[in-house]
Amino acid sequence: MTPVELKKDIFWVGAVNFGCHDFHGYSIAPRGTSYNAYLIKDKKNVLLDTVQAHEAEVMAARLELTIPAEKIDYIVVNHLEPDHAGALEYMVRRCKPEKIFCSVAGLKSMAGYFNINGWPVQAVKTGDVINIGRRNIHFIETRMLHWPDSMLSYIPEEKLLISNDAFGQNIAASFIYADQADRSVLTQAIEEYFFNIVLPFSPQVLKTLDLAAELKLDLDMIAPDHGLIFRTPEDVAFILGKYREMALQKPRKKALIFYDTMWHSTELLAKAVADGLDKSGVPYRMMFLKNHHHSELMTELARCGAILAGSPTHNNGVMPLVSAALTYIKGLRPQNLLGGAFGSYGWSGEAQNKIADILTEMKVEQPAAPVKCMFRPQEADLTAAAALGQSVGAALAERCR
Ligand code: FEO
Repeated sequence: MTPVELKKDIFWVGAVNFGCHDFHGYSIAPRGTSYNAYLIKDKKNVLLDTVQAHEAEVMAARLELTIPAEKIDYIVVNHLEPDHAGALEYMVRRCKPEKIFCSVAGLKSMAGYFNINGWPVQAVKTGDVINIGRRNIHFIETRMLHWPDSMLSYIPEEKLLISNDAFGQNIAASFIYADQADRSVLTQAIEEYFFNIVLPFSPQVLKTLDLAAELKLDLDMIAPDHGLIFRTPEDVAFILGKYREMALQKPRKKALIFYDTMWHSTELLAKAVADGLDKSGVPYRMMFLKNHHHSELMTELARCGAILAGSPTHNNGVMPLVSAALTYIKGLRPQNLLGGAFGSYGWSGEAQNKIADILTEMKVEQPAAPVKCMFRPQEADLTAAAALGQSVGAALAERCR
């Protein structure tokens, strides 16, 4: 892809990775991703963000189609995670910028990744503005959205927000704008990204959205550092509204059942739990963990208000995939969930209470006690599992009224 001119003298100069599957080292990118970097040509030429280290030459070649690298005066580093700053050292060497801007917390991250002795780094904070000629760049720190160093760059003359990880999606495409994408794919990618990356920082998201409203940021384009760019007033309103909706985490009338099983007994219980949800009129998605990455669970959770987790007892504990899924989900701090635990056992039967304890730590309200059965579930066990599903379903339906 050649550089794309987003607005007069403002270019996308990033890299698209169709083959990327692992994202940020813990999530997945089933459609690939992109690392977006931007160039503003003005009295001072500014490069905003870079790409992964192994894409440095791809980006540099793209940049050279717009301007020789040595003509870059400033580099703005909105965030130091290596998918955006991996090529920073390469670009600093090549551009020899007059100044490098990052947040105050970014100084620490930058020194942690690079030898910055001799680099002309200047820390900026919310409210700081640099003039680059016809335009100004306003900096807005967004601490813990999603690293302490994260910040946004706003160019009021262009009504443009360069938002780094915020508002991103993992989509690799031959086009660059959100309005060119299939809407359901775009929405799924936004939810997948938010629920796997941004969810723990929902309070900061709401605060930032409120701050943007307070500052009366006039926006007609939001350009994130991953995925597609929102360039119409409708799409800008859509992504801001979608972020508020996801960050609020209001109850959603759907349940997620996930489980692992050794000899299908816990699977039979999972199906009975599903029957109980059916009776309460709550739709569900059932995921057998041997078929799904933990990221897929979180994406599904974007549409769910309840989780029901099942595991047989294995070595006095929870099966490893269930344990890992619960650790991942718990770390992302989802809110306002109902739930329950179930599973089979052979002789000791600790798994279900251990799951229930983790759900309690996650502040998941459990309207019924864990259901467990010895070896093969009998009729009474299946009835108990269905009752668990029904009670969670009824409580969720009530919560969503
Ligand atoms: Fe996509 Fe936090 O880097």
